[in-house]
Amino acid sequence: MKKLTTTLINLVQLLNDGVFHSGSDLGEKLKISRNAVRKQINVLIEAGIAIESQQSKGYCLKQKLLLLDAKKIKKYFAEDNLLLGDLDIYRSVDSTNDVLKTKLIKDSRLMHVCLAEEQTAGKGRLGRQWVSPFGANIYLSLLHHYSKDISELSGLSLIVGLSIINALVNYGIKTGLQIKWPNDILYEGKKLAGILIEIQAESHSTTRIIIGIGLNVNLITTKEIDQPWTSVATILGGYHDRNKIISCLLTQLDRDIALFTEHGLSHFKIEWQKYDYLQNVAINVVHGKQVFPGIAQGINDHGHLLLKQSDGRLTAHSSGDASIKKS
Ligand code: BTN
Repeated sequence: MKKLTTTLINLVQLLNDGVFHSGSDLGEKLKISRNAVRKQINVLIEAGIAIESQQSKGYCLKQKLLLLDAKKIKKYFAEDNLLLGDLDIYRSVDSTNDVLKTKLIKDSRLMHVCLAEEQTAGKGRLGRQWVSPFGANIYLSLLHHYSKDISELSGLSLIVGLSIINALVNYGIKTGLQIKWPNDILYEGKKLAGILIEIQAESHSTTRIIIGIGLNVNLITTKEIDQPWTSVATILGGYHDRNKIISCLLTQLDRDIALFTEHGLSHFKIEWQKYDYLQNVAINVVHGKQVFPGIAQGINDHGHLLLKQSDGRLTAHSSGDASIKKS
């Protein structure tokens, strides 16, 4: 687990003008030695960032890069009544979800956030891997203390998906976003974001819930993702400051988790219908070794997927992987 330092953030900021900077110039500005500059540059190179280095001219970033920055994230918040607790930013972790699992919490009313520039063992749903290259995307986990009955948890996982959609709409992706039950965020059928919720039982009446969100932002090409995928940069063009998108996400999540705690899933049902990718579509729900074919009919009050089977019966599915049948 490596923390992201202010020196590295400032170094990248200095290099972001696209011109060469000498080691001594950078060292002077950052108040560190030339040797220390070289070490920081090596950190970036080892993380896969393209940096041109010429003995006579110094260093130059080949592509724009803005690192995560807690000050910027807080500056962009739309509201100041956000229930934000700790905001920890790491340069590299195995998984931001796992980091939060060991975190000791002082105030359980607040949401505690963990972000990383890179995950070396990013986890997806159903034991899959989540591709998490350095500096490209958002890898965010949020620790929430949940006091409702655990049976309502599937509802929470759905509203997190709706929160991400609303945050992205506010950010500027006005059309094309949909949610595939339980919580895949798609843009024109391609995966843009995913959610992994993990539960840690507590001795009291509350449960620690870790909400992990992976959102592709500036990634344009990779051979590592084995399904149709997209990113904010592919959709909107240009380079995107992740700090701004994270502020949109946290603001929306804070609002929606509070609404869910007060009103439950029923408050979000209409919105779910608006973005439901599977509505009236012939699908298979795979649960372990079992496959359930049918027509998707939205969700019930617990957030379970409703499936109309060939004999007309309606069954509810609390978990599984839904895929559209090939015609
Ligand atoms: C999915 O399979 O769709 C869920 C992907 C969840 C990825 C995020 S990235 C931040 C957090 N840390 C992880 O290891 N996974 C989640």
